[in-house]
Amino acid sequence: MNTIIAGLQWGDEGKGKIVDYLTESADLVIRSQGGNNAGHTVITNGAKYILHLLPSGILWDKKVNVIGNGVVIDPVGLVEEIRRVESQGVAITPEKLLISDRAHVVLPIHKELDAAREAALGSHKIGTTKRGIGPTYADKINRCGLRVADFNDLAFVTERITKRVAEANEILVRYDLPTYEAAAVCAEVLSAFERLRPHVTNTIPVLHTAWKAGQTLLFEGAQGTLLDVDFGTYPFVTSSNTTAGGACTGSGLPPMAIQRVIGVCKAYTTRVGSGPFPTADEGLSDYLHGLGREFGATTGRPRGCGWLDTVLLRFACMVNGVTGLAVTNLDGLDAYQTLQICTAYDIDGHFHPLPPAERDAWDRAVPVYESLPGWNCDTTGCTRFADLPGQAQAYLARLAELCDAPIAFVGVGPDRAQTLAV
Ligand code: IMP
Repeated sequence: MNTIIAGLQWGDEGKGKIVDYLTESADLVIRSQGGNNAGHTVITNGAKYILHLLPSGILWDKKVNVIGNGVVIDPVGLVEEIRRVESQGVAITPEKLLISDRAHVVLPIHKELDAAREAALGSHKIGTTKRGIGPTYADKINRCGLRVADFNDLAFVTERITKRVAEANEILVRYDLPTYEAAAVCAEVLSAFERLRPHVTNTIPVLHTAWKAGQTLLFEGAQGTLLDVDFGTYPFVTSSNTTAGGACTGSGLPPMAIQRVIGVCKAYTTRVGSGPFPTADEGLSDYLHGLGREFGATTGRPRGCGWLDTVLLRFACMVNGVTGLAVTNLDGLDAYQTLQICTAYDIDGHFHPLPPAERDAWDRAVPVYESLPGWNCDTTGCTRFADLPGQAQAYLARLAELCDAPIAFVGVGPDRAQTLAV
């Protein structure tokens, strides 16, 4: 069975853990969008790995990991990540990691242009990860990007980088940001690329051959539905399609190759960066930060936290075609007596079961809450769904009902063993 794992909130839902859990039965693990803006934390056998561009299957011996055409690759960042993971004892060979020759390449200037754009937006900034994601996808859509395959022609790459650096410098000086030497950028990027070259291939026939041979494919989504450039809280979104459709366009596999979509959400809601967050709750944020939870894996920023928002989840289940929900971090709510679930937004006296498209409507969206009793006990030792306290099971059942999707997995802690299949 081929599966897409999609984030249903604003990223950081704990997808890495669910991917890791499902990797056991997969032959190939595929990243199809985003870049090293993602930060997937996987804890296995007591060791903690933070992955940005590498698919989570890299931590397993015999899995093939694919970075698909829809991903934007920062060669310098990816080489650093490979070295870090290798230093933790994980071998990364060309058999284990395949990089699409059609993926676009993030240059150092893209990161600086990202910072410049944020500076220009001032108080309206998006709160990006400053990994150059938006400017790289903008070049892709503007048809002036650099692709991995272009690195077969070093003269072309050098000329293209030199031209792009000159254009970028004109913008950067306006914001008093550091400018770049084209020769230095070429040297840095080309030298990093040489470490990646043995991994580069046309990944599309590899994926089709695996599919036709009946191998199991697992698509590891990055970010979440509300950060999707089409379905998210635009403009406070990332620059790729983070929803299930992005797995197809970002890998070259057709929709009929997919049988299952697991939507991952936390038992509450979090968000980093700027933008709307109707159910944000300071008390819950302070409480979770006090436990040392909810700090970003990529930037270390504390995440804003809030109550479960089923307006967002209902929409996310629709656009992803979720066949099963994976609810993570249930244990984060262990100490609460009473829990709130947002079932609709009240916008100017009208009830909205789905998120609005108008950007100013978010400011007036008042969550309509339903209260549920908490379970007020430690769930981290539960090893089966049936071990969960009755109130926790009721909370999950209500979530599933409000989102019209069944619960497939529940996470009660960071370790692989703390994932309960339903
Ligand atoms: P960008 O993807 O760096 O352009 O950032 C755009 C928005 O997406 C910002 O609000 C970021 O905080 C958010 N974002 C990007 N990647 C992630 C992620 O992996 N987890 C959570 N938020 C993310």
